[in-house]
Amino acid sequence: MNPMKIKAPLAEAVMRHAKQNIIPFHMPGHKGGRGFSREFLNNLAEMDVTEIPGMDNLHQPTGIIAEAQRMASRAYRAHHSFFLVNGSTSGIHAMIMAACNPGDRLIVPRNSHKSVWSALVMADVKPVYIQPNYDYDNLLATQITVQQVREALDNNPDVVGLLLIHPNYYGMCSSIKQIEKLVHDRGKLLMVDEAHGAHFVFHPDLPPSSGEIGADMWVQSAHKTLPAFTQAAYLHLREGRLNRERVVQVLTLIQTTSPSYLIMASLDWARAFMENRGRELLHQLMIRMQDLKQLLKSQYGMLTLDDYWKWEEVTAIDPTRLTLDVRPLGVTGYQAEMLLREAGIQVEMSDIYRLVSIFSVVDRDKEFEAFSRGCGNLSKNLALRKGMSASVFEQLSISREIPEQIMSPREAFYSIIENVPVNESIGRICAGIIGAYPPGIPRFCPGELIDREGIEELVEIQRQGGNLFGLVDNLFIPVVKI
Ligand SMILES: Cc1ncc(COP(=O)(O)O)c(C=O)c1O
Repeated sequence: MNPMKIKAPLAEAVMRHAKQNIIPFHMPGHKGGRGFSREFLNNLAEMDVTEIPGMDNLHQPTGIIAEAQRMASRAYRAHHSFFLVNGSTSGIHAMIMAACNPGDRLIVPRNSHKSVWSALVMADVKPVYIQPNYDYDNLLATQITVQQVREALDNNPDVVGLLLIHPNYYGMCSSIKQIEKLVHDRGKLLMVDEAHGAHFVFHPDLPPSSGEIGADMWVQSAHKTLPAFTQAAYLHLREGRLNRERVVQVLTLIQTTSPSYLIMASLDWARAFMENRGRELLHQLMIRMQDLKQLLKSQYGMLTLDDYWKWEEVTAIDPTRLTLDVRPLGVTGYQAEMLLREAGIQVEMSDIYRLVSIFSVVDRDKEFEAFSRGCGNLSKNLALRKGMSASVFEQLSISREIPEQIMSPREAFYSIIENVPVNESIGRICAGIIGAYPPGIPRFCPGELIDREGIEELVEIQRQGGNLFGLVDNLFIPVVKI
């Protein structure tokens, strides 16, 4: 083929990246293809097919897709499983749209993934928020409590149910068993965002999966922790309180008519891989992770969540997720992430104090050694760096108030929206999801009245070195036009 005259910046950047051999401690869980067989990897382009004879149809599966989904449902302890080609995002949309009618109310944690708000808009569902608990010493949102769920159910007997996050990005798991009982005793639905927990079901020492505790619907991003391609996710259903046909109708509404066979095949592959080897590999992964944590602590004083776990609302922490506190090194998580990247290591994300890394069953001793070497170099390099230091917050006042809801998220979305400077937004109705890191929990959600205290809080966090999220062009808050 002739060299291309017209540039393709994205394609070129991704190809360059592929050659750089940066060691990935981030999703996707296949880690550069390590979880797939040679045959699978060598034929990717040819395997990217469409609904030709023999290939079945995701929207009306009767052949290989139906069989693969059935096998997934058995592995994940569901009655029915559905392949998703647009991540857990589309699963969250589908769960809320299938469970709720327009105008219904649903209990949701305030630190939900943003796909929850898009679902509320699309399905015209009204949120009843629960604030997750917050660890003020470590600037970290944890989980919602059983007591909060009880109160929310007592005070809002008309809700359809609850959407739970289990585990969160940091691997913190909720009191899911107690919450399941509370919710089901009142005849309500339990939906779970298990985006980060697709591996749980494959080892008895991992926290319980939603399928094991009897949730009604749950989503899992296979691509986050299993050998599956980006966007590959599952939606699982336990029939009884919900009906399969409704879920199928909703999925037909929101999924493409040209689903990627590579993504779907990787969902099938990930399930088979984990059923075959998951238990043994997860066992190995947990041992390696334990050793790594001990080494990082003894050599560099780096702590993990296990070291400051005192929260009753967190019943387990995913032992395969590494959340490293870099405060002992005297830098912020953001700075540590940048320095590791310069050394050829990429983590999943950073916050003010921590690095979050995703390890998966296909990481080998080699990757673990590279990670601990990277952390060693990090602590050595820091001595040479000037101007880097951990951001020290003065007394941060982070309120747990939930502002007055003036409109539903859908009404706010369908209003005329204008963008105004942060200070001029007081007294207006928010049309976006606005907050600060820390705490990483939205301060204002769509349809809520923006109050002075909230804005002062956000500005103060920013003054002390935190970052605001949800702003347009980093400056403006979207509000409903008067
Ligand atoms: C807790 C949580 N839920 C849902 C999602 C959406 O998952 P996906 O990227 O597979 O659409 C994410 C993405 O990071 C997430 O962190």
